[in-house]
Amino acid sequence: MVVCSCNRLTHVDVETAVAGGATHPREVYAARGCRAQCGNCVQGVVCLLREARKKHQLAHEAAARQAMAPAAEAGIALSA
Ligand code: FES
Repeated sequence: MVVCSCNRLTHVDVETAVAGGATHPREVYAARGCRAQCGNCVQGVVCLLREARKKHQLAHEAAARQAMAPAAEAGIALSA
C-alpha cells in the first residue's frame, strides 16, 4: 500500500525502515533517501511506524524468550 504519494513510499518501506532501526518518521523517509514534501502522509506514516515498531518489538521478545529456553526443553521439542 502506498503511504506517501509524493515519494512513492509504501507500508513495506516503513516496516523495512523500522527493521533497520528507524524510530521517527524522518528516519523512515531518510531510509528511502527522501523527506516529507507536502506532509499529507505524515500522520499515516506515524501510525504505520507505531504498528511496525510494536510488531518488531514483539518478534524481538519472542526470539529472546526462545533463546532463553532451557536446552533440555529444546531437546525434547526437537525429538518429538
Ligand atoms: S504524500 Fe508524503 S510528502 Fe506528500
